[in-house]
Parts: sequence; structure tokens; C-alpha cells
Amino acid sequence: MLDQLATTPPAELEEIIVPTSSRPSFVDGCGRTINYLRLSVTDRCDLRCRYCMPLRPTFLPKRDLLSLEELYRLARLFVVHGIEKIRITGGEPLVRKNLMHLLHRLGDLISPREEAGHLRDLTLTTNGTHLTQFAEELFACGIRRVNVSLDSLDATTFADLTRGGSLPVVSEGIDAALAAGLAVKINCVALKGVNVSPEEVDRLLRWCGEKGCDLTYIEVMPMGDIGNEKRLDQFYPLTELKGSIDKRWALKRSSYHSGGPARYWDCVETGRRIGFISPLTENFCDGCTRVRVTCTGMLYPCLGQESGSDLRDALRDHPDNDEPCSKVIAARVAKKTRGHAFVIDRDSGAALGRTMNTTGG
Ligand code: GTP
Ligand code: 5AD
Ligand code: SF4
Repeated sequence: MLDQLATTPPAELEEIIVPTSSRPSFVDGCGRTINYLRLSVTDRCDLRCRYCMPLRPTFLPKRDLLSLEELYRLARLFVVHGIEKIRITGGEPLVRKNLMHLLHRLGDLISPREEAGHLRDLTLTTNGTHLTQFAEELFACGIRRVNVSLDSLDATTFADLTRGGSLPVVSEGIDAALAAGLAVKINCVALKGVNVSPEEVDRLLRWCGEKGCDLTYIEVMPMGDIGNEKRLDQFYPLTELKGSIDKRWALKRSSYHSGGPARYWDCVETGRRIGFISPLTENFCDGCTRVRVTCTGMLYPCLGQESGSDLRDALRDHPDNDEPCSKVIAARVAKKTRGHAFVIDRDSGAALGRTMNTTGG
């Protein structure tokens, strides 16, 4: 069956991992070597966050999605071309049927060896609603940290923002992840008038300290049509939020870098890191070595640009040969722009045609 992965014997895996001297890394036109793949496994989600999608989104037809076998083939191809970190995204990745089959196989690609051509970090971004069920198995797959979206610790605000989500369910999921040995980073999208008051922010900072979680605040990005909601009404600049936090908490610049877009500070009082992802107010594109592939196989070198390449045809037209697909990737990566094209203002509306859940963040 197409969506069930067979078990690969270890000997076969050894053959798969070949030195990158024979499989060159993907390098963009600015000289940046791509080492971080964000791989989306579904556009579906059990929540409807107001900044992410409209109340009644149109999801992609299932036949358009890459099978688990194709996702694995693609991930492996990226790894032999120098990708060291894979983050599984969505939609909500844990609603993809049989995802654990894929994660176990990807986990087999992880190696602590320092040579190129090995995966070092396999991880996942989730809304947390299914973590209670899957936390232990995620750990068994070799995953050691997950990012969990949590925009408010007020149950009513949380339910309103997610249009029906349950805070206790997500909170239990986070506890299950921590109990399973996973490090948890909380993602909080800063939303004007919703979750940026000193009370809300301090509550989340303290809660993260007590749980032992790092925290990143994220600026709303103008991605896709979100129905009646207005981006400008939601947008809250993180420069302002950071300034306000600085007045109440001691933050020291951290040298930690995850490969992601956050800039981190150590919070002296909680002993945890706090990061800021500020694409609109403090551009971080210069050092970007990330690419993303959507669940239908579109490769986007930049989250904030429209241009991408379809990898699905290259995969399906050449079931036994990865070279055509590698060529499409190399050609698209070479055109990776220096930075994104996000703008939030009264007139621009949705700057990009696709929403976050169809792109994978
Ligand atoms: P780690 O740094 O590995 O912890 O993860 P991350 O912060 O890169 O990943 P996560 O999936 O938690 O994403 C947090 C936010 O960063 C989401 O809103 C993503 O859409 C956003 N993000 C990730 N990569 C990029 C990027 O290249 N550009 C922009 N503008 N946003 C990004
Ligand atoms: N702008 C910023 N962040 C967003 N996310 C989803 N949509 C947007 C948006 N338009 C966040 C989610 C999740 C991460 C993958 O991206 O809250 O934490
Ligand atoms: Fe689902 Fe994440 Fe979008 Fe919220 S932000 S609706 S949890 S995909």
C-alpha cells in the first residue's frame, strides 16, 4: 500500500548514506549552503487559528499529497545532499495518518557522526493536541525536541483564538512530551490586544520557567487569505514587546542558535531562553540556510516569496532515479533570494497567496 512504508534493512541504509563529495550540497546564489529542511506532511489541522486560516478552509485533495514513501524519498535525497536538520511541519503533522511510519524511517537516518551526509536533528512543530498520544513514540523515533504552538494560557482566549481548541488538552500534551524526555519550545504568535499585555506575557514567561520550556514570540506574517480577520489589526511589533519585557525581566543576549530564525536571550529569573522571530521589524534573512517543501511537493526556498518548484512530477516521472529531482532542487535553490517580501500595511492585504498551513512555515 502506497501510504505504508516498508522496513528498510540496516545494510540498505548504509548504502543510502553516501559521502556528499559525490552528492554536492545545495548552495544558493548568495553562497549559502542549505542545511535545514522544513518538510510539511499535511495542510490539514484540527484547529483553526485566526491568524493562520479562515474558519472554513478548503483543504487540498488527498490525491495531491505526497505519499509517505515519497516524503521519505525526498527527505533522504536532501540528507545525502547535506541537509542536517529536518523539521516536520503541517498543518498539524500529527493528524497525518501513519506519520509514525515515516518518522521511524527518518529517525534511522540520524547519526551523531560529524561527516556531511548525515542527519543530525529530526524534529517537529505541532499544536500539541495529539502529543499525549504520540510523545513517547516521537522519542522512540529519535526526536529529542518539539516546538508547540501556545498563544495564550487563558482557556477562553485560547479557545477563541484557535476557534475551538482546548487549553487543558494542549497543556497535558506538553506535560506528556516533557515526561517522555522531549525538550519543548513554546511558540507564541504576538497578537495586538489579545496576548501581549504585561500580565499575559509575564504569566507565559513564568509558566515556561516552571515547566522548563524555552519560548519564542513570533510576529504575524501576511500569509494567505484568513477570511474576515485583518492582519494589520492582529500585528504587534516584537521590538515593542521586547522593550516592554526588558522593563520587567533581566534578559541577556544568548549565543544559542538553532538554525531557525529566532534571536535568543537568556531570561535570568526563569533560567530559560526567550527568542524573538521578527521578520517584519528585524530582518533575519541574511543567514538563512532553510528551504521548505509543502505536502504536495512544492519547494519554496523562502517562506516569504511566491516562487517555487514542483518536485512531485520529478519524483513520480522517475521512480528509480533521484537525479532529475536533485537537479530541480539545485536550480531552484540557486535562485533563493536574499530575503523575503513580507509587508503589512492597510493596502497590501494578504501579501502571499498561500496560508501558513499550506506552506509548512
Ligand atoms: P527551531 O529554531 O529549530 O526551534 O525552530 P523554528 O523556530 O525554525 O521552527 P518553528 O516551526 O517553531 O517556527 C517558528 C516560526 O518561525 C513559524 O512562524 C515559522 O513560520 C517561522 N519561520 C521558520 N523559518 C522561517 C523563515 O525562514 N522565514 C520566516 N519569515 N519565518 C520562518
Ligand atoms: N504568522 C506567524 N506565525 C504563524 N503561524 C501560523 N500562521 C502564522 C502567521 N501567519 C505559526 C504557528 C506555529 C508556527 C508553525 O507558525 O503558530 O507556531
Ligand atoms: Fe493549525 Fe497551526 Fe494553523 Fe493553528 S497555526 S490552525 S494549529 S496549522
